[in-house]
Order: sequence, then C-alpha cells, then structure tokens
Amino acid sequence: MNQGKRVGIVGAGNVGATVAYSLAMLGSCHEIILRDNKIDVAKGKALDMSQAASAVRSHTVVKVAEDMSDLTDCDVVVVTAGSPRLPGMSRDDLLMINANITKEVIKGIAQYSPNAIIIMVSNPLDAMTYVALKESGFDRSRVIGMAGVLDSSRMASFIQEKLGYGGGQIRASVMGGHGDDMVPLPRYSTVAGVPLTDVLSDAEIEEIVVRTRHGGAEIVGYLKTGSAYYAPAKSTGIMVEAILKDTKQIHPCAVYLDGEYGYSDVVSGVPVMLGANGAEKIIEVTLNEKEKEMFAKSCSSVQTLIDTLNQNNFFQGE
Ligand code: 2OP
Repeated sequence: MNQGKRVGIVGAGNVGATVAYSLAMLGSCHEIILRDNKIDVAKGKALDMSQAASAVRSHTVVKVAEDMSDLTDCDVVVVTAGSPRLPGMSRDDLLMINANITKEVIKGIAQYSPNAIIIMVSNPLDAMTYVALKESGFDRSRVIGMAGVLDSSRMASFIQEKLGYGGGQIRASVMGGHGDDMVPLPRYSTVAGVPLTDVLSDAEIEEIVVRTRHGGAEIVGYLKTGSAYYAPAKSTGIMVEAILKDTKQIHPCAVYLDGEYGYSDVVSGVPVMLGANGAEKIIEVTLNEKEKEMFAKSCSSVQTLIDTLNQNNFFQGE
C-alpha cells in the first residue's frame, strides 16, 4: 500500500475531478488535494469523493487547497487547469491564456511541493509541458505530459471496434504531440501479439489512424460544450499509479527531448519508463522513413507554439 502518498490536482473540472475520483476508488494514495478557484465546488466534490471512498472501503481522503500554499509536500501534482477554447479565439490566444495560467500554477507547485513530479494535462499539451518545465526549473524527469496513454487507448478501442474482437488484448502505440499530426504506429500495434497488418487491411488501418488523430474532436462533436474526460482522466491516473507504485512500466508520455530521436529543446510524446523518480528512461524505438517524417511534422507543430511563446517574450526575465 502507498500509505502517506499525497497527490495534488490543480483544476477540479471534469478531468481533474475524474482523476481524483478514479485514484480515490483505487486507494492509490493517502490524500488527494484538489485546488480550484471555485473553492466551494471543489469542497463539494471533495466531500462527495471522500464519501464514495468510504463506500468502497478505500482509505483515501479527498481534501481542498484553498490556496496554492495549501498544496504542500505532494508526491505528484496533476495540472488540469486551463481555459477551453471560446468562440472567436485563435489557437494562439488559447496558447497564451493557458501558458499564463500554467506559469502561475507551476510557480506555486515549485514553491510548496518542490519534490513533486508534475503531470501536465492542460492543452495545448506539449507546449504546456514545455512551459511547466521551464517555469518549475525541475529536472525534465519530473515534468511529464499526459496524452500518449490517452491517444493509444483511443487507437486500441478503434481497433477493437473495427475487428469486433480482441478487447483487452490490444496494444496500440501512438507517438508525437497531442495534436492532429500525432503519430499512430500500426507497425508497433498488436492484438494478443499478432501484428495489426495480419488482421486488418491497409485501408482499415488507415481509417483507424485518421480516427485516432481526431479522437478528441469526435467526442467534442457530440458533447458540444466540452471535451472528453473519462479517458483523459483514467490515462492520467494510470501514470500517477505507475509513479506512486514505482512500477517501471513503459507508457507513451510527453517529455522534453534532449537529443533523443534527433530533437532538442522541444516536448513530444515518446515511450517512457515511469517510476518513483518520474520519467526514468526514454526509450528510442526504431522508426522507418515515413514514421520519422510524421514525427518531424508533429515536433515542428509543437515548435511553432514554443516559438510563439518566445516571440511574445513569455520566458523573458527568468
Ligand atoms: C482530448 O484529446 C481534449 O485533449 C483532449 O480529448
């Protein structure tokens, strides 16, 4: 058991609250501290979840931080805070708004939970992970973005839907940034160890690749006023558990690249070994020319966002 472990969650909206709920149900940690500007909403959700935890005999207690200064000594802090895109807003507008929110939040985490491992969930995910890394001053192993677990899970569920069998036995692999040019890797995806190419045609695989790239938008299209949260939250919870339990499992995560795959000073999704020290190892898988090209395109999209932050002097004076 992980008695004594403390997880902070900044942003108690749909994603943040569902991460908290799923961790509380599993008894993954001793305490979960929710931080949200809507303090009463956070208090209500915290009480509700603590009561749900009691119902399943989980020892986890869910509390509220009224201020970032209450978010002390967390082992892991999940950051879901951010503004959704509103009508008339450009992608760059959202980038600047969420970068500023992230900057404030990360300052608080660095001050009050200086030994935490940060898991970024706010969008645009890869750029926000970059901001969190720069603003925290933490080692890159302690600032990790969630998205690859989500995108791979989406791909696996689309494979299952297409096949009509194989549920629970599918391993799908997605690399690159969490955007429309993410890099689904059918070559590294299997059903009970059977390569995807042995059970699906090229056209069927391409359909799955395209659907995976737009998996988030498909759900927004149905929900209308919001985006997905069950799968994003569960994917985040899987990463938190791997860290708290020091499992050394490999998950696709967004991390700062420092020469890996030939890229530096950019964040992208790659297979990472997660353990008590965060992203303990970056695994470099062999990509063919086409995959390398797709990965390059994805990294360049993230780079454009980082360039926009620099052009707006976002990191100046630090
Ligand atoms: C998703 O892919 C919004 O990034 C979130 O569902």
